[in-house]
Amino acid sequence: MAQDRPVALVTGASDPEGAGNIGYSVAEAFAVDHSVLLADLRDPSASAARLGASAFAIAGDVTRLDDCEKMVAAAEAQGPLKVLVHAAGITRPATRIENLDPAEWDHVLRTNLTSAFLIARAAIPTLKRAGGGHIVLVSSRAGRTPFAIRGVSPVATKAHYAASKAGIISLTRALALELAADGIKVNCVAPGPVKTRIMPKESYQAAAASVPLGRMAEPSEVASVVRFLCSDAASYMTGAILDVNGAQVLS
Ligand SMILES: NC(=O)c1ccc[n+]([C@@H]2O[C@H](COP(=O)([O-])OP(=O)(O)OC[C@H]3O[C@@H](n4cnc5c(N)ncnc54)[C@H](O)[C@@H]3O)[C@@H](O)[C@H]2O)c1
Repeated sequence: MAQDRPVALVTGASDPEGAGNIGYSVAEAFAVDHSVLLADLRDPSASAARLGASAFAIAGDVTRLDDCEKMVAAAEAQGPLKVLVHAAGITRPATRIENLDPAEWDHVLRTNLTSAFLIARAAIPTLKRAGGGHIVLVSSRAGRTPFAIRGVSPVATKAHYAASKAGIISLTRALALELAADGIKVNCVAPGPVKTRIMPKESYQAAAASVPLGRMAEPSEVASVVRFLCSDAASYMTGAILDVNGAQVLS
């Protein structure tokens, strides 16, 4: 019975074209023994259907608190919410800061960082009602430290993206401290280049070359770490930031 299963809510989990998507792979990893609610701005119904009877879909915008509250209510309707994975996010081209449109800065910060605050805020009372659980936020190698985009001269970074993903690391730690006493563990993954639609295919070769392991990650290689963080094997982990970037952050 789907209703007997714990529920995992995964944002940013729509992959209708099968182009690769971290949230979808996370949902797939949980669908074996959880009911999974896939939430995304792009209707995730077709993606949920691919995962079978234990997967459900909701379309919504994680930059809106009311939509986040609807996602959490829809998840709780399936059973006790035990897992929240926030993978929704966007990136934008590298632009020198003096040319960066303030509206673009706001859009990236709201979509990547404020959204994590909003979905966590919406889910915390529900996770507490379920007796505790897990939150995993998705940062990036860029959140560890900004880096110059190769081949662009003069030097340009994705300052807005990097700042939003650095904020995710700090928010993870704040949430972990605040929620430890409630039995809610909060951890974070910081991926390097992953084969998803967020990365243009033309940049795959350069991205792989920038990684000491010599290749990009498959979405499933991030999903398996998220799954580990939400398992008994990680029972003493909270407030951790796990690099899933083939040592790119060290290069
Ligand atoms: N792919 C990479 O190389 C890489 C590396 C490091 C970090 N990340 C991070 O991983 C996460 C997942 O990215 P991905 O690689 O799967 O890319 P993706 O583009 O396939 O997935 C992101 C999803 O977020 C959804 N989304 C965007 N704005 C939204 C909003 N306002 N409300 C609800 N949903 C929204 C998109 O529709 C999309 O389905 C992102 O936070 C991204 O920054 C990706």
